[in-house]
Amino acid sequence: MKTKLAESSSDTIREEVRQRYGATARGESSCADDCCTSTSSDALGYAAEDSAFAPEAENAKLNGFDNVEFRLGEIEALPVADESVDVIISNCVINLSPQKERVFREAFRVLRTGGRLAVADIVATAPLPEEVKGDWAAYTGCMAGASEIDELEKMLGSAGFDRIKVAPKDTSRSFIREWMPGKGIEEYLVSATIEATKPLHS
Ligand SMILES: C[S@@+](CC[C@H](N)C(=O)[O-])C[C@H]1O[C@@H](n2cnc3c(N)ncnc32)[C@H](O)[C@@H]1O
Repeated sequence: MKTKLAESSSDTIREEVRQRYGATARGESSCADDCCTSTSSDALGYAAEDSAFAPEAENAKLNGFDNVEFRLGEIEALPVADESVDVIISNCVINLSPQKERVFREAFRVLRTGGRLAVADIVATAPLPEEVKGDWAAYTGCMAGASEIDELEKMLGSAGFDRIKVAPKDTSRSFIREWMPGKGIEEYLVSATIEATKPLHS
């Protein structure tokens, strides 16, 4: 039997997430309609040709993008030097981390002063029901790990960021509803842009 989510270590949670997205990458995902299926990515604004393009990293070379470098790592420990990055972007990744404070501290470490974090993610607009919070599929499906907006603002502030802005996109509730049909999950979750700046003077 699987360990309860609330009692699981960060490593166990990360491994579960890794298994889930490894299966997606190999085309084995059993999830019918969640944040990584083509239906939802259409709703998220990906054109079909972009979705088809994305997995083929080799495409960077084929298309002559010689200023692109791929590094394998985790958002809690970025394979990047201190103060070497101008902008951090990501879509729907931070909610999956069991160590979000560490993620924001790490983002702060790698950014140059004046550098920006500008990511999109799923955030909670109300405390999630216990039933959802303890559900492994809801966690790996970008729901159960979503932080509330004020928690995110607090974590970003503690990491040292300023000009923090979390902007929910209410229209996203229409596709989030489909991730757990009939459960009213869209009452709790929304897609948002999260922006913050590493101040010039600390
Ligand atoms: C919901 S998908 C989003 C993928 C892509 N950003 C997009 O918009 O289609 C989440 C991705 O985050 C990756 N991921 C999850 N936890 C991670 C972590 N701790 N460090 C790095 N990547 C992680 C997963 O492997 C998966 O590729």
